[in-house]
Amino acid sequence: MAELWTISESSFNPERIRHNETVFTQGNGYLGTRGAFEEFYPDEQRATFVHGVFDDLPVVFTELVNFPDWLEVEIFLDGERFSLADGEILAFERHLDLHTGLLTRTVRWRSPQGRTTWLEFQRFASLANVHLACLQVILTPENYSGGVELRSGLDAGADNLGFKHWDWLGQGFDGQTCWLKLRTHTTEIEAGMATSIAVTADEDIETHVWDVHGHPTLAFNTQVSVGHDVRLEKKASIFTGRDCADPLASARAELAHLPEHAWDELWQAHTRCWKEEWQRCDVLIEGDDEAQLAIRFNLYHLLIAAPRSEERVSIGAKTLSGYGYRGHAFWDTEIFMLPFFTYTRPEIARNLLSYRFHNLPGARDKATTNGFSGAQYPWESAGDGREVTPTWVPNPSDRANMIRIWTGDIEIHISADIVYAVWQYWLVSQDDEFLINRGAEIILETARFWASRLEWNNENRRYELTDVIGPDEYHDHVDNNAYTNHLARWHLRKAHWLGGWLKEQNPQAARQLFNRLGLVEETFSHWQQVADHIYCPLDVETGLIEQFDGYFKRKDVDLAALEPRTESVQNLLGIESANDTQVLKQPDVVMLMYLLPEEIDPAVAQKNYDYYTARTDLTYGSSLGPSIQAIMATRLGSPEQAYENFMRAARADLEDVRGNAGDGIHGASAGGLWQTVVFGFGGLQVNVDGWKLAPKLPKHWKRLAFKFAWRGEEVSIDLGGKEGENT
Ligand code: BGC
Repeated sequence: MAELWTISESSFNPERIRHNETVFTQGNGYLGTRGAFEEFYPDEQRATFVHGVFDDLPVVFTELVNFPDWLEVEIFLDGERFSLADGEILAFERHLDLHTGLLTRTVRWRSPQGRTTWLEFQRFASLANVHLACLQVILTPENYSGGVELRSGLDAGADNLGFKHWDWLGQGFDGQTCWLKLRTHTTEIEAGMATSIAVTADEDIETHVWDVHGHPTLAFNTQVSVGHDVRLEKKASIFTGRDCADPLASARAELAHLPEHAWDELWQAHTRCWKEEWQRCDVLIEGDDEAQLAIRFNLYHLLIAAPRSEERVSIGAKTLSGYGYRGHAFWDTEIFMLPFFTYTRPEIARNLLSYRFHNLPGARDKATTNGFSGAQYPWESAGDGREVTPTWVPNPSDRANMIRIWTGDIEIHISADIVYAVWQYWLVSQDDEFLINRGAEIILETARFWASRLEWNNENRRYELTDVIGPDEYHDHVDNNAYTNHLARWHLRKAHWLGGWLKEQNPQAARQLFNRLGLVEETFSHWQQVADHIYCPLDVETGLIEQFDGYFKRKDVDLAALEPRTESVQNLLGIESANDTQVLKQPDVVMLMYLLPEEIDPAVAQKNYDYYTARTDLTYGSSLGPSIQAIMATRLGSPEQAYENFMRAARADLEDVRGNAGDGIHGASAGGLWQTVVFGFGGLQVNVDGWKLAPKLPKHWKRLAFKFAWRGEEVSIDLGGKEGENT
C-alpha cells in the first residue's frame, strides 16, 4: 500500500509553496532541509538548519542559522533557464516517501520558446551518515536538441530572512568538488561544507570552475538530443565545530572516499536505517486511510528531527523545518514529543533529557537572577539553556506598537513538565543509571526552585503561586493556576520520594549528590510538608476546578456564536479582551487531568471536561490542544469528540489548518497525535507496577497495531476493531 506511505502533490500550486516546503522537509536528526526547489522559485524560504547551530539575533536573542544551500542546481536548456515561474507546466508531481525519506519531483515543462523537457529530481538526507545528503537531476529533451548547462555549488550568502549570520573564512575547489569554510558571526561556530558534482551525458562534458567569492560553483556544459538524458548527481557534506575540530577537513574527507557516482551505495545504507526505524516506531491503522497516512507523516517529522547521537540539543517547537520560534525548544518537547521517543526510541529520549541536564547551569542562573534557589528552566531554550523568550515583539496587526511577552518571565510550569518527562522516561525504561546520574539532579534542583518560589499565605494557611501563566496563554498574570499548582505539588512529592529511593539504591551516589546540592534530611521533609499545603482548588459543590483565582468571574463567551470564523478568538477580540473572557487558547485543567489522572476523581474529571471543552478555542487556538482533548474525550467516553479532535491534530500541518504551517511543523501536535493513538484509542496506561490496555478504537477502525519498549523489551500490540480485543 505505497500510497499510505506517500505524501503527494499532483499539480503545482504557487499559493501553497511555503506550506509545502514545510511538508516536504527532509532530515536525519542532524540537519533538516525544507522542501524548496533545486532551481529556485520567487518568494521561497529555502533553508537548511543544523541542530545546535544558533547565532545571536536582536529581539529573539538567538536563532538556528540557515546553512548554505546544498540543493541549488540551475538548469539552462538550450539557453533558456528552467523555472516553474516561467513557461508552462505540462505535468507536475511531487512525492515524499515516508518509508525512506526520499523526495521525488517530476516535471514536464515547456519553455517560453516552446522547448519541452522532462525533468526528474530526487534527494535524501542520509540517515546512515547524517553528515551527507544527496540529490540527482535527470533531464530529457522531448522536442529539441541543443546545449544544456547545469550550474551548482554552495552559497555562503545564505541568510535568515534577510539577516546574515555567516562570516566567510575560505573556499576552494578540488576537481569536481567545491568547498566552503564559514563561521557564525557571534557564537563563532565554524562550519565546513563540501559538495561533489558529477554529470553524465552521451556527449562530451565541459566543466568550468566559477570561483565567485562566497559562492564556489561548478558549471557543466554538454549537448543533448531528443529523448536522451543528462544526469547530475550532487553529494553534499556538512560538519560543524560542534562535531569535530576541523569541520572543513571532515567535510572534504567524507566526500573524498566516495566514488564519483555514490547514489546507489548511499541509498542502500540509508534505506536500511529507515527500515529499522519504522520497525520500531510504525503505527498501523486499518479502516482509516487518512488517519494512517497522517500518523506516519507526523512520526516521520518527529524522526527526522530527533538527535540520535547528540545530547546537547533538543527539538524546537517547529522541529528543523522552518523559521517559526527560531528553533527554540519549549515544553512541547518534554510533554508532547518525548513520549513517542520514550516508548519507541528510548535512546533518543535519553539524549533529549540529557540536553536539560547539561543545561542545568542556565536554569540555575535563571533561578538566581529571579531571586530563587535551585534551577528554573527557561520557557524558551536554545543552545545553552539560557532564557531566550523574546520580551517585546512587534504587534502583527499594528506594527507601530510592540507587545510585551510575559511567558519567559512567568510561565513557570515548564520546570515541572521537564521533571514529568524524566519520571515517565524512568518509569518506562527503568534506566536507573540515568535517574541516578542525571535525572535526579534535574528533579532535585527544580524542586528547590519550587520550594523557594511558593509563597506562604498566612491568612489562608497554604502555599500559593501568584502571578503566573498556565498552559492557557490567553490569560496572563493569574494567581494559583490549577495546572501549575498541581504539577508543583506532584513534583515536590516525587522529589521527596526520590530522596528515599536514591539512598536505598545507591547510598554513595546519594550522599555525594546531596552534599553537592546542599540537601539535608530536613530539606526532603520540608518539601513534603510544603507539597501537602499547596493550594489546589476544587469547588465541592460544582465539582469544578477553577483554572485560576477569579476565572469563573470572567466573561463567558458562547464560542458557537462566533462561528463561522477563520481565526483565533484572541485575534478576533484582541489580546486584552480575550484575557477578560473565559475562552481558553488550549485546555489547561483538561491537560492537568490528562497528566495526573490519579489526582482527579473521575466524576470531577467529567464535569471539568464538559465545562472547559465548551470554552476552548480548539480549531484556531493552540495546536497543542486537540490531541489532549481527544485523549480525554476517549477516556471519558465521548468517541465523536475524540475522533474530531484527533483529526484536527492529524490535519494540523497536512491541511495547514492554522495557516502557519509554512513556519514549520507543529512538533507538539505531531507528538500529541501519537499519544492520542497509543494512550487514547489504544488505551495504554502505565504505572510503577506495569502496563495495561483499555482500548477504545474509533468505530470504523478495523485494526490498530503499534509497538513500544517496556523496560528493555519490545511489546507488540495488535488490536482488532472490537473494544478490548488484543490479538
Ligand atoms: C503555545 C505554547 C507552546 C508554544 C510553542 C504557543 O502558542 O501556547 O503552549 O509551547 O506555542 O509551540
